[in-house]
Amino acid sequence: MNSRPLYLQLADDIATQITHRVWQAGARLPSLREMKNRRGLSLSTVQQAFRHLEDQGLIEARPQSGYYVCPPRGQAPAQKLLAPTEVAVDPLLWRYVADQSQPLPGRQYGFATAVAPRGLLPEAALQRLMMDSLRRQPATLSDYGRPDGDMAFKRQVARLALEWGGQMYPEQLVVTQGVIEALNLALRALTRPGDVVAVESPAYFSLLYTIKELGLRVLEIPTDPVSGISVPALELATRDGQVKAVVMVANFSNPMGALMPDEAKQQVAALLESRQIPLIEDDIYGEFYYGQQRPRPIKAFDRSGNVLYCTSLTKDVAPGLRVGWIDAGRYHSQIEVQKYLASHSTPTLNQQVLARFLDSGAYPRHMRRLRRSIASQMAVLQGEVGRHFPACVQFVAPQGGFCLWLRFPPGFDSIALYEQARLEGIGLTPGPLFSPRGGYRHCLRLSCADPWSTQQHARLQRLGQLASQLCLGL
Ligand SMILES: Cc1ncc(COP(=O)(O)O)c(C=O)c1O
Repeated sequence: MNSRPLYLQLADDIATQITHRVWQAGARLPSLREMKNRRGLSLSTVQQAFRHLEDQGLIEARPQSGYYVCPPRGQAPAQKLLAPTEVAVDPLLWRYVADQSQPLPGRQYGFATAVAPRGLLPEAALQRLMMDSLRRQPATLSDYGRPDGDMAFKRQVARLALEWGGQMYPEQLVVTQGVIEALNLALRALTRPGDVVAVESPAYFSLLYTIKELGLRVLEIPTDPVSGISVPALELATRDGQVKAVVMVANFSNPMGALMPDEAKQQVAALLESRQIPLIEDDIYGEFYYGQQRPRPIKAFDRSGNVLYCTSLTKDVAPGLRVGWIDAGRYHSQIEVQKYLASHSTPTLNQQVLARFLDSGAYPRHMRRLRRSIASQMAVLQGEVGRHFPACVQFVAPQGGFCLWLRFPPGFDSIALYEQARLEGIGLTPGPLFSPRGGYRHCLRLSCADPWSTQQHARLQRLGQLASQLCLGL
């Protein structure tokens, strides 16, 4: 006997027919009442099934007309675009950030933080380099440093572009205090309060908060968990000139883990160039691929300097040194000014240590090991979710990064799960933090960054129990 709830059985049957094109894009589905009679189900069960399909982006309700099949994923329809909105930041965010900012040990463990754990970072090598750099050049402590960054460091990071077939030149780069600062500088340089910025949906919460603090509005672009932002929807969103900048994570987005195909990246670069809308690309997870090759950023397809490429060494080498950089293309001089105004410069000592680490040849070795560990931690996470979570949970296996995005049936409350798990010292990130409107309450993000241990397995099992309780009656 099928133990799945009746509404999910119906939703699965319809979804399978849509996948096999029994119902094609634009086709009208039988009405709720017709479906109720055909399947001998209650009206509310059929309604729940339709809501579930809507939530998955497979069908949509048209007022006074019924339910219609949506175009395939990655080709979001025009009517899926919402109006630009101001960002309503969930008050929960500060508590969440405070929990994650506890010093080690003491921080909430589990599945919240998306950054390589201490044991997998090259702490000892960096410590030696730090002591030695201080001994050799104590004057760096008494110097403000260059606003655009240390040349030796910039030479080293420019070399990293060879891996994805790109070109970066040291004099084009501005060193920043992580990607967060790079995003701030880029948005400040390109927008004025009241402007509209297009972002993926769901999107990284610090980006949403920055947008709010700068008095900007956000236009959410539908995003597929496999292929990333919908290019047709972006095309539609940027037709009328209201969007002043686009921000995107094309490689292993946060929270969904989506990876845009090269063809889509090329289309985005060409589209935004032709409309003269700058693209701020956050490539912080680009090095965390599970496959053979590093995915190319959109910057690799940028012919005219329209892409402001931001990344850092905070996730993979040294979160505590807070060093990132931006190649702002044709917007370079505006970014230099913004950097000077925001923080004058990035600590030179930190850049020197990282430059020496990169120059030593240790980085590729370190990354190979780190990537293998994160990929295997992610594989275990997926297996454990399959084993301990209720059958109604859905996820797409990411091809890189730390994030696993779980979708539960509508009505599931990820904030309630967050609160219950928090009391037991288990971390996770509830869906609404990734939405400017408190959406995605039935979704949550699990990070695979913390290594597996007996305790970590027990935490996941407990999370599964709590989630199962919250699913009862849905
Ligand atoms: C998509 C994304 N961008 C930027 C950051 C922050 O980067 P940094 O630590 O380099 O400021 C994060 C951290 O979680 C992230 O997920």
